[in-house]
Parts: sequence; structure tokens; C-alpha cells
Amino acid sequence: MPGQIMNCDMEKNIRPITDPSRPKVYIETYGCQMNVNDSEVILSILQDAGYALTENIDEASLILANTCSIRDNAEQRIWGRIEQFRLQKRRREGVMIGIVGCMAERLKEKLLDSHVVDLVAGPDSYRTLPDLIKKITPDSPQINVLLSHEETYADISPVRMDRNGVSAFISIMRGCNNVCSYCVVPYTRGAERSRDPYTIVREARELFDNGYKEVCLLGQNVDSYYWKDPDSADRNVNFAGLLEMVAKISPGLRIRFSTSHPKDISDEVIYTMAMYDNICKHIHLPVQSGSNAMLEKMRRKYTREWYLERVAKIRSVIPGCGLTTDVIAGFCGETEQDHRDTLSFMEEVCFDGAFMFQYSERPGTLAARKYPDDIPDEVKTARLNEIIALQGRMSLKSNQKEIGNRHVVLIEGVSKKNQDELFGRASNNKVCVFPSGGHRIGEYVTVEVTSCTSATLISKLV
Ligand code: SAH
Ligand code: SF4
Ligand code: F3S
Repeated sequence: MPGQIMNCDMEKNIRPITDPSRPKVYIETYGCQMNVNDSEVILSILQDAGYALTENIDEASLILANTCSIRDNAEQRIWGRIEQFRLQKRRREGVMIGIVGCMAERLKEKLLDSHVVDLVAGPDSYRTLPDLIKKITPDSPQINVLLSHEETYADISPVRMDRNGVSAFISIMRGCNNVCSYCVVPYTRGAERSRDPYTIVREARELFDNGYKEVCLLGQNVDSYYWKDPDSADRNVNFAGLLEMVAKISPGLRIRFSTSHPKDISDEVIYTMAMYDNICKHIHLPVQSGSNAMLEKMRRKYTREWYLERVAKIRSVIPGCGLTTDVIAGFCGETEQDHRDTLSFMEEVCFDGAFMFQYSERPGTLAARKYPDDIPDEVKTARLNEIIALQGRMSLKSNQKEIGNRHVVLIEGVSKKNQDELFGRASNNKVCVFPSGGHRIGEYVTVEVTSCTSATLISKLV
């Protein structure tokens, strides 16, 4: 049963198995980090059913796209891919095409209209994939888009598909109970539910035992994580408690998390971060807009002033804490003044980084039903460009302040530009590049920042 502490498959190999005799599955992942982790859950389930992963689509008998619906362009990309999958089916008899994830949940049977797709499975139905696949025939595509109030895949050990074996995602909850008016996630992922913390700790420990040095705890709103212990209310666990449990596994295991919600991030979480060296000093705190009128219409449930107070608290308790955000340009009815408020807000906070988007109306959301999508595309684009340019200046400014600072960096890979250089992230999530000096991926090193760009801290080993 989901949600219970189980011991079943925690012992098994967490890396893809290579067995040439098995049928092959090819998995493409779109969207957020939660989808990346879901693909690892899917692979685990399919490996148990006899499949092996391939990175070569031409040898796959099952092709899966784990999809995203967050903006219209995300879905348009998938429609384009479906047309390319059509060619695979023409060339090779018996190839099965599956669309899973958020777009599967949103569009359901409509995906079958293309006459390419054999399988449609929503985010809570992955345990049924082996059964669905068995039932597929050319004339009977299979579909399961039931959402669940309990499913957390707590007992399934994801099969890790990352390349470096250093950093892994762990989903600590699923779904979302906020109804931000622009957002499709509550419809594609269902109601919020938290995963048993003991299975989370066990998964993190297993990763650490397998050489991983960093875990990133994932949820749409991690600050509302709450586990009700079935036996005793004294043992209930909130997000601060969970952070502490994972931090105690080993000082050699770093912990990151995403996403925090400005309305829910608590002092307790901030103090817990400050207390443990191995909890990374970075918070991704999406603001969406700097205008109170827009925030209200977006149903974000905080104000500009509230957010600024949270930032002040974070910076007073954790000096140097990395702070990144998401911003939406051109939401319904956004005036020039609302847009200016977003710019002035970004300047006031001076974020270290931001993901910035044009508003994209999503069918079925509150905003789509209530507010006309009335900002012309050219205006959205112009505002977004202004936001991106400002953030570029802010990122550079924030990086320039780092010159001369020392950071402990976890090495994640070899620099793309120079084979003799390595890169990794500092605790505050900034990317540092430095001469390799004989060090290897997965090691911690101390570096000193010597110069920077808006994206990178150029550093030397100390
Ligand atoms: N749960 C996270 C965000 C998940 S979606 C949170 O609440 O912060 C990631 C980002 O996509 C959002 O923060 C928002 O900036 C953006 N986004 C979501 N819906 C969008 C839409 N309809 N149009 C444009 N951007 C959107
Ligand atoms: Fe979407 Fe809001 Fe939930 Fe984030 S908190 S996933 S933006 S509804
Ligand atoms: Fe996209 Fe679904 Fe994530 S809509 S952003 S893949 S939760």
C-alpha cells in the first residue's frame, strides 16, 4: 500500500540494468524535476516487468514521452514529437507509443485522435503500466488517467538515469492543493499528499551508500509537507522535521529542496537550514509578480510586503543565502504599472537567478474561466524581455559580490568549454568553474572566486 513503510524493493540496483535479451524502452522526459523523478519511477516499474532502458529510440519496442502541460508551447512540442513517433511506427512494426505525465492527464482520450498513441497514463497510474502494455493491440489503445489521494510511490526505488551519479531527486510529496488561478498543475497532478518520511530517509541513505553526495527533495510546495503518523500524533513530521531527518544521515550528504511557497515558508524551516551545514543555503521562492493586484488575481495568497519580509528573515538568519524565483509576464489585465512593480521588486530583492515566462492561458484553470487573456503577445514579449534583461544585470551584480569569497563546491562534471576544468555548485546554488587539479566528479573542494559572468563564478582551488 502506498504510504506504508515497506522494505520490498529498496535493496535492488538503482542504476539501469543492461540486458540485451530484454525488450527495450526509450523514455523522453519533459517539464519539471518531478517529471524527471517520475521517469525514474516508471523505469523501476518497467524493469520489474522485464524491460531494459535504451538511449537509442531506433531499438525501442516501447517509446514513452513523459509530458508537461504547464504552458501551451510545452504541449505544442509534444504534438511535434508525436508526429515523429508516427514515422517510427511506420518503419518498425510492433512499436508502441505511450504518452504519460501531465499532458496525458489533461488531454486523456484526445491523445488517441492522432492514431499514433497506444498508451495514455496519468501521473498516478504508473503502477498499472505493465498491465496496460500487455493489453495493447493495434486496435485497442490503453488509457488510465485516474488520480489518487494516496499514491506516493513510496515503496518504489527509482532507477536513476542521471549521468554523473552525484546528485539525485527524491519526491517527498505529490499533487498541489493551491489553486493559483493560472496553473494547470492541480488538475494534472491532483490533490496534495505527503510521502512517509521514513521511506524518504531510506531512499536518501541508499543513494548515499551508492556514492551519491546530494539529494534534492521535491514537491510543488515543500513547505506544506506534513506526514501524519498513523500511530501517534507526537510523531507527525513537518518539512523542517523532514529536513532535519535527512540532514542527519551524514554530513557528507548535501540536501537541496524545491519548490518553496512564499505563503508557507516558515521560520522553523529557515532556522533548520541555518542549523545544518549540509542543508544547502539556497531557496527557490517563486514570486510570479511584484504587483499586489496581480498576486491577488493569481491567488498566490501573499503580498509584495509579505514576500519582502520573508526575504529579510531569510537573509538575517542565513547571510549569503541564494535566492531564486519564477516570474510571469503579461498575466490577465496586467497594466504597465503592474509590470513596473515587478521590475522594481526584482531590483529590490536582487535575485541570484530567475525562471521567467510569458503568461500562457491554460484551459480549465480559474484564470481561463474568469479573466480574459488580454495582454497582446507583443506586449507580453516586450515585458518579458525587459524582465530577462534586468535579471541578467541582477545576476551579474550578485555574482560580482562573490569575488574573493570561498565556497565548498560539490564537483558535478567536466566543463563543456575546457576539458581541464571542472564545475560544480556552491551551497548557494551558484555554478563554479575551476581548474581540475586532479580532482574528480563527486568530490568536495574549496574554491575561491576570482572573476565571474552573469551565469558562472570563475574560481581557483585553494
Ligand atoms: N509549484 C511551484 C511552481 C510550479 S510551475 C510554485 O508554486 O511556485 C513552475 C512555474 O511555471 C511557476 O512558478 C510559474 O512561474 C510558471 N507557470 C505556471 N503556470 C503558468 C502559465 N499558465 N503561464 C506561464 N507560466 C506559468
Ligand atoms: Fe501551480 Fe500554484 Fe500549485 Fe505551484 S502552488 S503548482 S503555481 S497551483
Ligand atoms: Fe509540467 Fe506537470 Fe511539472 S505540468 S511543470 S510536468 S507538474
